[in-house]
Amino acid sequence: MDIVEVNLGRRSYPVYIGGRLKDIGKIASTFSIGKKVLIISSDRIFSLYGDMVRDALSASGFDVYLARIPEGERYKSLTWASRLYARCLEVKLDRSSTILALGGGVIGDLAGFVASTFLRGINFVVVPTTLLAQVDASVGGKVAVNLPQGKNLVGSFYQPNFVYIDLAVLASLRPREIRSGLAEVVKYGMIEDKELFSFLEKNSARIKRLDEETLHFIVSRSVKIKAKVVEEDEREEKGRRQILNFGHTIGHAIEATAGYRSYRHGEAVAIGMVAAARLSLRMKSFPLSSFVRLKSLLERLNLPVALRKGIDTDELYNTLYLDKKVRGGRLHFVLPKDIGSVFLTKDVPSPLIRKVLKELAE
Ligand SMILES: NC(=O)c1ccc[n+]([C@@H]2O[C@H](COP(=O)([O-])OP(=O)(O)OC[C@H]3O[C@@H](n4cnc5c(N)ncnc54)[C@H](O)[C@@H]3O)[C@@H](O)[C@H]2O)c1
Repeated sequence: MDIVEVNLGRRSYPVYIGGRLKDIGKIASTFSIGKKVLIISSDRIFSLYGDMVRDALSASGFDVYLARIPEGERYKSLTWASRLYARCLEVKLDRSSTILALGGGVIGDLAGFVASTFLRGINFVVVPTTLLAQVDASVGGKVAVNLPQGKNLVGSFYQPNFVYIDLAVLASLRPREIRSGLAEVVKYGMIEDKELFSFLEKNSARIKRLDEETLHFIVSRSVKIKAKVVEEDEREEKGRRQILNFGHTIGHAIEATAGYRSYRHGEAVAIGMVAAARLSLRMKSFPLSSFVRLKSLLERLNLPVALRKGIDTDELYNTLYLDKKVRGGRLHFVLPKDIGSVFLTKDVPSPLIRKVLKELAE
């Protein structure tokens, strides 16, 4: 098992990578996280892994309770947060108690939001069960719920006590969800780690058959990059954390324009990365050979590199300007300089953005 430390002073915590769920109790008992643990999960995930986590915690002396939420992004809501507060009161959690999120990013964000606000904040443990949550959502402390007006509009920064990653849980994940997580791994390669990028190029077959050693390498490399960036700019105030948004400016607009249904987050990010790379290529800031490598890696991982039919690119363009990344009417982009290196810019000409969006739809 690897341990990646996220160093944030008093809010520091370890990410355990490659542990087994049956051993989580022993690890949990080394933390001061009280005696009561409320597991927040969904029926599907709890039926697969819940007993293992519950039994492991009980065997280590914890009193374990369960709260189930339905599956889907729309339950990451204030309505479900209040139902969870009611459950916390019902089982009499106190300020020394713990909420444990067992699930993907939706459960992690919602459970973290409840942990950060119930009694002004109680202990929080994350056991991410999707690749996307393992490499991205579970690390960094962003917790949130959605409002009808938009995603993640109410939330906070709230770091967990620890994150526990068992790679074996990825075996039951739908292939599309694996691909969605892989897009974020490609992102880490592009922004910071050309060796990781080359590794992905050479090992796509092993990745696709979920070889555990290969997954261990890519998850641990990704978590290390995310941890480093978060350490340098925990609350996204210094510009550094913005590099994690590579592919997300246009990616978010694609998700929003398509109504958050037809694209998984990682699929939209994959197209967003190709779009950012095209912009940079046209601005003569990114070599053609690297553009070709990015596009072929995404294709080899079965990720989309162009828009599916049915998206109106004018609508997509207008949605872009509603983004959080617009300041003073100008869009802030993270563009690639080469594999493993990006730069921030607000100087992308609007006609070029329109042109690239049209190219993505061809
Ligand atoms: N906090 C952050 O920094 C951050 C970063 C990225 C994304 N997010 C959030 O994460 C969410 C997306 O997360 P996600 O992609 O993990 O989606 P998700 O949580 O919706 O999970 C995807 C699907 O996989 C199922 N599933 C999960 N684990 C499984 C397993 N091991 N076996 C079988 N099925 C399993 C779930 O039930 C669900 O149907 C979004 O709400 C997004 O806003 C947060």
